[in-house]
Amino acid sequence: MIPVNDLSRGFKLYQDEYEEAALRVLRSGWYVLGHEVEDFEKEFAASLGEECYCVGVANGLDAIMLGLMAAGIGEGDEVIVQANGYIATMLGVMQCKATPVYIEPDEYYQLDAANIEDAITDKTKAVIVTHLYGQATRMDEIVRICNDRGLMLFEDCAQSHYAPYKGKNTGLFGKAGFFSFYPTKNLGGFGDGGAVVSKDPEIIKQVKILRNYGSDRRYHNIEVGFNMRLDEIQAALLRVKVSHMPELLANRDHIAQRYLSEINNPKVSLPLIAEGCKHTWYQFIIRVDDQDRFRDYLEKQGVKTDISWRTPPFLQPCMVEKYGYKEGDFPVTEELCAHIVTLPMMDHMDEDEITTVINAINSY
Ligand SMILES: Cc1ncc(COP(=O)(O)O)c(C=O)c1O
Repeated sequence: MIPVNDLSRGFKLYQDEYEEAALRVLRSGWYVLGHEVEDFEKEFAASLGEECYCVGVANGLDAIMLGLMAAGIGEGDEVIVQANGYIATMLGVMQCKATPVYIEPDEYYQLDAANIEDAITDKTKAVIVTHLYGQATRMDEIVRICNDRGLMLFEDCAQSHYAPYKGKNTGLFGKAGFFSFYPTKNLGGFGDGGAVVSKDPEIIKQVKILRNYGSDRRYHNIEVGFNMRLDEIQAALLRVKVSHMPELLANRDHIAQRYLSEINNPKVSLPLIAEGCKHTWYQFIIRVDDQDRFRDYLEKQGVKTDISWRTPPFLQPCMVEKYGYKEGDFPVTEELCAHIVTLPMMDHMDEDEITTVINAINSY
C-alpha cells in the first residue's frame, strides 16, 4: 500500500546527521533556549532570502497567537481569514479574543483579494493570508488593500515554507509570518515546533517575551506570558533539515511534475499554478466528483489518499456554537471541501510508486 505520507523516509535520507544533532544536544546538558535555538533562528531567517528575524516557539498555533498578540490584536478586533484555511489560523485569532471573519478563496484555493473589501468593517484590524498546500497566494492586490485601508497583514506559512510569490518567500510580505514545523510540513521537525518571522524587531522582541513567561530578563516578568518555547533538540534537528531543503523540495517537485504530466483522466482536475508562484507541493490536491468512490477505488489499487479537510473550520462544532454558522454560508469553500483529495506526496517516492499512483488514477 502506498501511504499518503511516510515520515520515516525523510528521517532515513539524512539519518546520520539527525542522530548526530540529537546526540549533540543530549550530551550538551542544555535543553531549553540555548544556542541551538538561537542558531536555528538565525539560519532559518537567513534562508528566507531577505533581512528578517525569527523567533522559535512551541508550534504553529502558538506562532499565530503570539505574533498577533505582539502586534496588538485583541478583544473587539476583527481579522479577515479565508474560509477554507486550517482551523489553527482562526483559533489563533480567537485565543487573542478577536473574531475571525471568513471570506471565500480563489481558483488556486488561496485567499481571494477580491473578497476582502466586502468583509471590512470599522472593527477590522488585520488580514491573515494562509498560503495553502505549498503554493503562495497572489499578494500584490492584498498588500495594496491592506496598505490603503490601514490593515495589518499577516501570513500563515505553516504550509508554505520557501514558496515564493514573484521571487519573494511567503512570510515576508506583511507584519509577520507564522510557521509550523509539525512533522508533516515541508520543513517539519520530529515533534512540535513553530516560529514567528518578521522584519519588525519590536514584534520579535515581544514574541520572545511572551513565549517565556512574559519575561524580558531572568525572573523579571513584564507581561502575563506563556511557556511556548521551541526546545533545543527540535532546533538542532530543524537546522539539519533547513540545510537540505533545496534537495527535499526538488524531490517533491519531481513527484509533482510526473503527476502533472502523466495523470490524464477527465474525471480528475489537477491543481492550477498561479502566475508568479512556484509551488512547493506540501500537498498535491486534485478535485474529483465523488470523493468517497474515488478514494475507495484508489485504495483497492493500493494507493492511500486523504482529504484535508472534509468539514471546513466554520462548520466545526466550536465555531457553530460561538458564531452560529450553518451549511451554505460559504458555498465556494463547502464545494471545495466536498471535492478535494490529497494524493501521496512525501520526501521520497520510488519511480514505481509514482507510476502506481498515476496508473490507478488514470484507470478510474
Ligand atoms: C495552515 C496551518 N496553520 C497552522 C497550523 C498549526 O500548526 P501546528 O500544528 O504546529 O500548531 C497548521 C498545521 O498544523 C496549518 O496547516
